[in-house]
Amino acid sequence: MDIIKQIENIKQDLDVQLSKVDNLKALNDLRTKYLGRKGIIQQLSEGISELSIKEKKEFGRHLNQFKELAIAKINKIQDKLNEEELNKKLSSEAIDVTLPGTKVDTGHSHPITKVIEEIELLFISMGYDVVEGPEVETDLYNFELLNLPKGHPARDAQDSFYINDEMLLRTQTSPVQIRTMLANKDKTPIRIICPGKVYRRDEDATHTHQFTQIEGLVVDKNISVAHLKGTLELLARKLFGKDRTIRFRPSYFPFTEPSFEVDVSCFKCSGEGCSLCKHTGWLEILGSGMVHPNVLRACGYDPEVYTGFAFGMGVERTAMLKYGITDIRDIYINDLRFLDNFNYIDGGDINES
Ligand code: DAH
Repeated sequence: MDIIKQIENIKQDLDVQLSKVDNLKALNDLRTKYLGRKGIIQQLSEGISELSIKEKKEFGRHLNQFKELAIAKINKIQDKLNEEELNKKLSSEAIDVTLPGTKVDTGHSHPITKVIEEIELLFISMGYDVVEGPEVETDLYNFELLNLPKGHPARDAQDSFYINDEMLLRTQTSPVQIRTMLANKDKTPIRIICPGKVYRRDEDATHTHQFTQIEGLVVDKNISVAHLKGTLELLARKLFGKDRTIRFRPSYFPFTEPSFEVDVSCFKCSGEGCSLCKHTGWLEILGSGMVHPNVLRACGYDPEVYTGFAFGMGVERTAMLKYGITDIRDIYINDLRFLDNFNYIDGGDINES
């Protein structure tokens, strides 16, 4: 039967064309060409009416077989092309999660801020308030009420920037003691620390005209040197390590009596003697003393009833010791190569960091 031969030929044609198909669009065109509503198979089936019943049956069977075969072959190639396309997409969009990420620079606190915050946290935990005072201060608060009357020789130790006869840039945070006592009248207890900027006409590798101090003041009944010593020992251990000891050396400050210079045992050599502590085994960290009766009296506190202790420390000096900084000016130049050394320091115990 001619028509069956014809189907065989068409089948071969389809195979040839399918072997050349390499994309879904071409495959779809072929599908339409063979299986579409006006496609080859449909056209063949339209010729069926001219056949005898027997031929119809025979032809119908062949045509159906061919149709099913064509559908199966086309679908198989479609599956293959779909898979190839998916693989191509997967490999071109692949993400290597093991590749290193892009480093994002994050900011961090300045080393001076870190030291201040570390000290603040310690004192807040002991019930102190953190207070601030103005940087432009009166001669009265910066000196006179601190028992440094005009012409007092101890004023020489603090070369000052005067704005006029009565106003100056504060040379120390001690006037905040006065402000706090005056504001509290004779209320006790007073427990404050005061961080802030101070100004002196001074500049070299270990001094700048502007620097930072933290002042401490406690006023109450029965406050003694023992309280001062215990407090400063805690401070020294927080800053320089839990094995540190402190020692008091007699000193002179007009606003305290007695006055002490406080040293901490060297955290680098543990007191053996090294270049950091200039072979003394001790590092000077702050000035302190019992609040002078004249100061208490001037601020409305009866020195027969109340006593107090005070201390003052340089934050830059503390940071220099703690972090091994040799030139104070590095702290203020704001060179990121310097500052980034403090990125990972979060103000903890120096022996634990
Ligand atoms: N104000 C002093 C200074 O700048 C430091 C100081 C010493 C503060 C003894 C105090 C203190 O409160 O009791 O040198």
